[in-house]
Amino acid sequence: MIEVVNLSKKFKKVTAVDQVNFYIEEGEIVGLLGPNGAGKSTTIAMLSTLISPTEGDVLLNQSSIIKNPSQLRNKLGVVPQEIALYGELTAKENLEFFGSIQKMPKRLLAERIDIVLEQIGLQDEPKKLVKHYSGGMKRRLNIGVAMLHEPKYLIMDEPTVGIDPQSRNHILKTVKKLNEQSNVAIIYTSHYMEEVDYLCDRIYIMDKGSIIASGTKEEIKSVLASENTVHVKLERHSKGFVNDLIIQPMLSNINAKEAEVTFTVAKGMNFLPILLTLCEKNNVILKSFQVEEPTLEDVFLHLTGRALRN
Ligand SMILES: Nc1ncnc2c1ncn2[C@@H]1O[C@H](COP(=O)(O)OP(=O)(O)O)[C@@H](O)[C@H]1O
Ligand SMILES: [Mg+2]
Repeated sequence: MIEVVNLSKKFKKVTAVDQVNFYIEEGEIVGLLGPNGAGKSTTIAMLSTLISPTEGDVLLNQSSIIKNPSQLRNKLGVVPQEIALYGELTAKENLEFFGSIQKMPKRLLAERIDIVLEQIGLQDEPKKLVKHYSGGMKRRLNIGVAMLHEPKYLIMDEPTVGIDPQSRNHILKTVKKLNEQSNVAIIYTSHYMEEVDYLCDRIYIMDKGSIIASGTKEEIKSVLASENTVHVKLERHSKGFVNDLIIQPMLSNINAKEAEVTFTVAKGMNFLPILLTLCEKNNVILKSFQVEEPTLEDVFLHLTGRALRN
């Protein structure tokens, strides 16, 4: 188990990470979700002993890795936010290079390269130079480099930023497969709530250097368990209808875009009669309505008053 205890990092006047606590157990996928500037990369940099904390500690099986970093190195793989590969080499050659600078024994390295290439789905590209790879393929190879020495823990810092949706899905599947096949524990950092929702067993939501919510998806969403978001589609836009909604005490967060209106309502409240009455009053036809369970994005909005992406 890795435990992060009261971890803080100050850069002169900026407190990038402020008294952060979390843990990750063997074999699980933990998400660190937060907007740009939340302090995710700084936390990761301290966890991987690239920078030292201003305060706090990181424990591996109860022993400090700040005091004794070498114990963590062979147990940890880090996939950095920036891609670090050699464009003039093939995938295999890149893996050979990174394995040899880690001084992996030749035979073990050759075995691991075959396994890793298969895991990241690049086994069929033996001759292609990395400079001709798509963004998604480079990302996967970047993950492969971190997996070479068979780490027990893998940290990924926003591995899908700047790539197309299809490659992104491929990466998410690769991450899930890695976790299932090699039982590697993964700390997955992202500002995309859909990714964290799909991948992670437990989630920490980070904002302005602090953890503002934590738990399983269900636990985090239960913060908003008392509310539902309702999406309404009308046949046409009606200003009168929207104005009438706004003054209903039972409804809040009314948002109108042309003929589509959303609002939140306390769970269990029967809002339908009001909706129908207001439609009739304003002479507008209700095309559809849909009641939505809260998302992680809704929780973030509720806690901070801001969207994850802006
Ligand atoms: N080396 C540094 N010097 C000064 N400020 C930094 C440095 N690294 C990060 N920061 C600041 O710390 C905050 C958190 O940054 P970062 O950890 O990169 O967030 P995230 O990865 O969540 O986007 C930001 O305000 C950023 O500008
Ligand atoms: Mg970052």
